[in-house]
Amino acid sequence: MYLGLDLGTSGLKAILTDAAGRVIESVERSYPNPHPHHGWSEQDPADWIAACEAALDALKDRAPDALADLRGIGLSGQMHGATLLDAADRVLRPCILWNDTRSAEQAAMLDVTPRIREITGNIVFPGFTAPKLMWVEQNEPEIFAEVAKVLLPKDYLRLWLTGGHVGEMSDSAGTAWLDVAARDWSDAALAAGHMRADQMPALVEGSAPSGDLRDTLAERWGIRGPVVVAGGAGDNAAAACGAGCFREGQGFVSLGTSGVLLAAKDACAPDPASAVHTFCHAVPGRWYQMGVILAATDCLNWLSRNTGQSAGDLAAQLPDTIDGPSDLLFLPYLSGERTPHNDAGVRGAFIGLDVGHGPADLTRAVIEGVSFALRDCLSALEGTGTILTSVIAMGGGARSPFWLQTLASTLGTPLSIPAGGEFGAALGAARLAIAADTGGDPADIMTPPHIGETIDPVAGLQNRYTERWQRYRALYPALQ
Ligand code: XUL
Repeated sequence: MYLGLDLGTSGLKAILTDAAGRVIESVERSYPNPHPHHGWSEQDPADWIAACEAALDALKDRAPDALADLRGIGLSGQMHGATLLDAADRVLRPCILWNDTRSAEQAAMLDVTPRIREITGNIVFPGFTAPKLMWVEQNEPEIFAEVAKVLLPKDYLRLWLTGGHVGEMSDSAGTAWLDVAARDWSDAALAAGHMRADQMPALVEGSAPSGDLRDTLAERWGIRGPVVVAGGAGDNAAAACGAGCFREGQGFVSLGTSGVLLAAKDACAPDPASAVHTFCHAVPGRWYQMGVILAATDCLNWLSRNTGQSAGDLAAQLPDTIDGPSDLLFLPYLSGERTPHNDAGVRGAFIGLDVGHGPADLTRAVIEGVSFALRDCLSALEGTGTILTSVIAMGGGARSPFWLQTLASTLGTPLSIPAGGEFGAALGAARLAIAADTGGDPADIMTPPHIGETIDPVAGLQNRYTERWQRYRALYPALQ
């Protein structure tokens, strides 16, 4: 038995699988994500541990025999978050998350450091870890002085599970301290961010062992042991492992809190100026590129909070088939934007509001606006020479037929919808645990899911979505 733990932004998902990656049991536990000031987004790492304990306690109740046979754990996690620890591993302040834009100024400063983009393969985005530490240095110097280790969220969970300070390349690639081609910490990038190598965890590959589950935890959950904890991955690399995307051109589009269009790469070929992200994959010798938009289903959640209707109820008001883009345009920059603008200061807009518009019209505009933003990502990826040969759709938004058709018609690409079951980051994490435990070939373990349905661009409408996207594109400079 293997366990995949995905430490997300809204909660932790735990899935228990057999050695073939078939899901036996799955549990989710949520935690809060406070936004104490404009542009801030934080979490208390103690909430992650509590969620993990609760999830494992629930698994023990539901599937004690299967859990007893556990051989490996894989970790996936929201990327970029800065968990700051003192010399006794005490958490020094709430974790500053990936969608926190407070360190825009520090990111801009760091981004012009000579060779930083070349080494790290990326723009230094405000959401990345390095500028967060510079913000802490400037605004909370007493805390900065105490920082003995910086861990990414899932690596903090690993510390609790194994007692070791270990990270892996796919998540560490999003810190702006890693040499992404060399898959190792860069002394030059660390120095540019006023950090030292001893403040970083040791690195392993995502599919390699990183330590063993502590005996006290194994006993608590009735696990016979020993249990290896794999390096794991940042959530997007983990999702790529879950969806079997690791050869050139295989990719996915994810409609989660953030939106991601990801393409696996056989080599490290960064193009930072495009605002495309280039990160290490979770398996050795592979990389991936992706466009990231900061708010995808988050835009629908925002509309839901402001209309008092659930996101599901809002989406249910739309027809199952699309008939062309609406006149109302929405720019989804509710938390600033990464690809293609790298603009932490920009904010969203509705354009073309009419006295007759109601919640259904706003919902449709939001779904179209997020789809246009993902078309921007496709255009940025294509600009770097990347060609996506297959695209799997995943994430909460992919449950909406209207959204899938809008997205397929906007991207001009068929979207493959897995037939069901698990294929996301938690499965990817479990698969990395299988690889770490068995030493098996990732190609045999990380197979693509069975595709149940393919959503094609709607014939005759593609040009209209492209025209509307061009109009959408022209609005960003005006907002700026
Ligand atoms: C990727 C990113 C997000 C988070 C979401 O760069 O910031 O996709 O990983 O959890």
